[in-house]
Amino acid sequence: KATRILHDHFHEGCGVEISEAKGEFTLHGRTVEKALCLCAGSGITPLMSMVRTLHDLGEELDLCLIQCSRTASDVLFGQELAMLSRSMPKLRVETVFSRPSDLDSNRPGRLNKSQLALLVPDASDRTAFVCGPTGFMAVMRGHLLELGIPADRIFEEAFGPRPATTSKISAGEKAVVSFERSGFHVEADEDTTILNCAETAGIHIETACQMGLCGTCKVKLTRGEVDMSDMGGLSEVDCKDGFILACCSRPRGHVAVDL
Ligand code: FES
Repeated sequence: KATRILHDHFHEGCGVEISEAKGEFTLHGRTVEKALCLCAGSGITPLMSMVRTLHDLGEELDLCLIQCSRTASDVLFGQELAMLSRSMPKLRVETVFSRPSDLDSNRPGRLNKSQLALLVPDASDRTAFVCGPTGFMAVMRGHLLELGIPADRIFEEAFGPRPATTSKISAGEKAVVSFERSGFHVEADEDTTILNCAETAGIHIETACQMGLCGTCKVKLTRGEVDMSDMGGLSEVDCKDGFILACCSRPRGHVAVDL
């Protein structure tokens, strides 16, 4: 929500009052023998603070950090983490790519339980810190519990989006997106977002996170139904007015948007 507000209401020269960092998602004040940090997208932000703090204080903690991103070019803080790893022998950083490009040699696919067990064979001995989109966190929580980490050693920090509740598209089902003002019609399958369709049609939609978090890509749905995986940055009024997030909405059947 903050990103959207900054976009809409702030300009160069505006003053912003910022409080000190607050919250429970921290190593501070906890007895942690070994840690496992799991993140997706900008969920790495609070985990970076933990790693930097350990580094700055010279504290040695056996910490495995697994960052999930779409491709290698979406990895955040990659260089800094590589540098920190060199001076923190107990820090291990792993990356998993959900949509690897041909150049990405690392582990492909979404992080599942068996992959997690391979990456962290001693998971049950660790205290877990998980931060990412709501869906990611729910899935990871299930994996961690099944790998033997008790619930009271799993700490979570959600950022923003409420999960959407629209129905899913069946595999193989074809859909069509009509861009009403431009007059383009684009065919889509179950993996294609409204944003992908707009790109195919050569229509520009402004984006930022491309993860359903910031609301920058909101567009008005004028017909049909979409499967929207996240709703970050959309207000109640936006939802009532029919706005959807183009980056994480997949058309179900024939839909039309006001573009
Ligand atoms: S670009 Fe941020 S929600 Fe779509």
